[in-house]
Amino acid sequence: MPKDNSDFFKQKKIWSKVKDELLGCYMVPYFTKILSMGRPILYVDCFAGKGKFEDGEPGSPLTALQSLDSSIAVYRGSRMPAVNMKFIELNHYQYLEGNIPSQHRRRCEVIGGKFEDNIKPLLQKAMSAANHQLNVFLYVDPYGVKVLNATLFDSLAVAFSTAELLINLNSFGFIREACRVKKIKFREREYEIFSDLEEYDSSVLDSIQELNDIAGGDYWQAIIDVYRVGEIDCREAEKEFSLKYKQRLRRNYTYVLDMPIRLKAGQHPKYRMVHATNHPDGCVLMADNIAKRTDRLVIEIQSGGQLSLMPQTAENEMVGDEMLMERVKAILDRTGSYVRLNKFLADFYNEYGVLCDLSRLSSGRSGSVLKTLEKSGYIDVQRTPAVTEKGKLSAFWQEGKGNTLMLRKRS
Ligand SMILES: C[S@@+](CC[C@H](N)C(=O)[O-])C[C@H]1O[C@@H](n2cnc3c(N)ncnc32)[C@H](O)[C@@H]1O
Repeated sequence: MPKDNSDFFKQKKIWSKVKDELLGCYMVPYFTKILSMGRPILYVDCFAGKGKFEDGEPGSPLTALQSLDSSIAVYRGSRMPAVNMKFIELNHYQYLEGNIPSQHRRRCEVIGGKFEDNIKPLLQKAMSAANHQLNVFLYVDPYGVKVLNATLFDSLAVAFSTAELLINLNSFGFIREACRVKKIKFREREYEIFSDLEEYDSSVLDSIQELNDIAGGDYWQAIIDVYRVGEIDCREAEKEFSLKYKQRLRRNYTYVLDMPIRLKAGQHPKYRMVHATNHPDGCVLMADNIAKRTDRLVIEIQSGGQLSLMPQTAENEMVGDEMLMERVKAILDRTGSYVRLNKFLADFYNEYGVLCDLSRLSSGRSGSVLKTLEKSGYIDVQRTPAVTEKGKLSAFWQEGKGNTLMLRKRS
């Protein structure tokens, strides 16, 4: 593990590329949708970095601005709503200032300083100016966990019209610090677990209270107690912690997904990208996005370009069609009345995680679980519009652009 992060911006590593792809691919439909509804947006990159890596690759601020460009290019309204882009950065804010493209300067502000000092005043000011109309997106990509704050994340969901989070959660760093603070020996060899972690986690936590503030409660202590008596190892502790962390976020965000970023199959994740939203459409978009990034991670990086016989999840689980069918039916069986397709899909991903991309569940050209269920009469489907412009019965399996689809289990 490096002693510091001075080399971080020299060359953009593959996992940083996957992380930024996850952000960039999501932000295009996010900006497009909110702009089309005529609503103002506040985007905050809370640990923004330099804007550009020294090898010329874009960092997260430029990635988000490129996504915004794509959305502006397809905007058809007469008066574009306000989009404010704020970039908080402690160390490299001067580089970042210089790296903001000139066409974006008027909507961008670089805040040189600490996230923990600046975020609340920034949000409070935005809140009073926008009168609850504002849609807020926070991208949270720190080196460690020390500055994460569960209460802050809770308050956003209540204060703004909509709030979404994409958080780089260094859950292993949390487990290590939790053991240290509770004076429990970390059994595994630290250098093996953390050796490839290029991002040095500078978190040194001093108290139980600090850990409670990060986690949003004391649920993590029971996990550390089970680890202490040897019933689980640190990988299981990390997995359990991330599950509970997501459950905790669901108090204020209905849909919470995560993508573990691991470079070798079966290895511990370097970190997890956690996405939280209250909107089913956002959850479905992110789930499909995670599934596509996972294919890249698993095929290009973990397996050296080798396709596996069965698609794998980011947790390296094999997911067959039978398993998908069984789980889709389990949700249908308990749903009863008609439900919107995207709500149904979001419930699926929220409950089971990102087991597959959308094509296997609904929109696949060569068939999908829901298409099979429609053909066999297991479900009723109502589409709007019911007929195409050519007068044929609609057969789409994707919502959006005026198309909506309701489904239920046939009684
Ligand atoms: C993982 S890097 C962010 C990389 C960036 N998201 C990108 O993709 O280009 C973390 C950044 O947070 C900055 N930083 C560290 N402590 C900070 C703090 N307390 N407040 C704000 N920024 C901080 C570091 O200087 C570093 O640039």
